[in-house]
Amino acid sequence: LEIAKEKRDLEGKKVLITAGPTMEAIDPVRFITNHSSGKMGYALAEAASKRGADVTLISGPTKLSPPSNVEFVPIKSTLDMYDAVMKHFPHQEVIIKSAAVADYRPQYSAEKKIKKQEGDLTLTLVRNPDILFELGQIKKEKILVGFAAETDHVIEYAKGKILKKNLDFIVANDVTQEGAGFGTDTNIVYLIDKNDNITKIDRSSKLEIAHHILDKVKQLF
Ligand code: CTP
Ligand code: CA
Repeated sequence: LEIAKEKRDLEGKKVLITAGPTMEAIDPVRFITNHSSGKMGYALAEAASKRGADVTLISGPTKLSPPSNVEFVPIKSTLDMYDAVMKHFPHQEVIIKSAAVADYRPQYSAEKKIKKQEGDLTLTLVRNPDILFELGQIKKEKILVGFAAETDHVIEYAKGKILKKNLDFIVANDVTQEGAGFGTDTNIVYLIDKNDNITKIDRSSKLEIAHHILDKVKQLF
């Protein structure tokens, strides 16, 4: 791993990374989001860039500063992320989708603040596009890596996503485990590829995990 960090073994490779949560507006002051901190995606961007890759980082709102030397594309909603990913996709060789994308958004985003009324408020949520699924349909020879944050049946659900989304491999984590998942500086993950090879990475920093993910990407070139 130490050697890999020093090596510029991804020199000139075009790598697109998505990170962070998406934010779905209800009105100008309210939104729906999730617990993603962006740490895993930013660690990937930093590691890939250190190894010489040309990195584009498309990120939802986080508290992190993007690593230097990456092309940074900030977005808010899933539809914004969709547009940014589709725009950058043609020029990429590797796409790693670590973002925690909202599956649903409010049907209407009110132009003015919603005032409270007597009684309850019902919000209708509509499906967002599945960005990774769509990339899987058009990927051709590109390397496509997904993430799966699960609370149960981790391996089984993650394997299902490899098939459904036509991925080369997936990074699966059990977010209920201590030292794993959202907001932590460490993670515990399984790298599962389309040939059912499973590698467990014991609790490690997100930067170390990023290097393991990139090692696996490198093997696929
Ligand atoms: N993903 C995406 N677009 C979406 C939803 C998910 O690109 N609208 C991507 C994520 O970035 C991640 C992968 O798909 O790399 C898996 O996301 P996940 O939420 O675990 O899977 P879903 O297919 O949304 O299934 P579910 O949430 O029901 O488990
Ligand atoms: Ca989802």
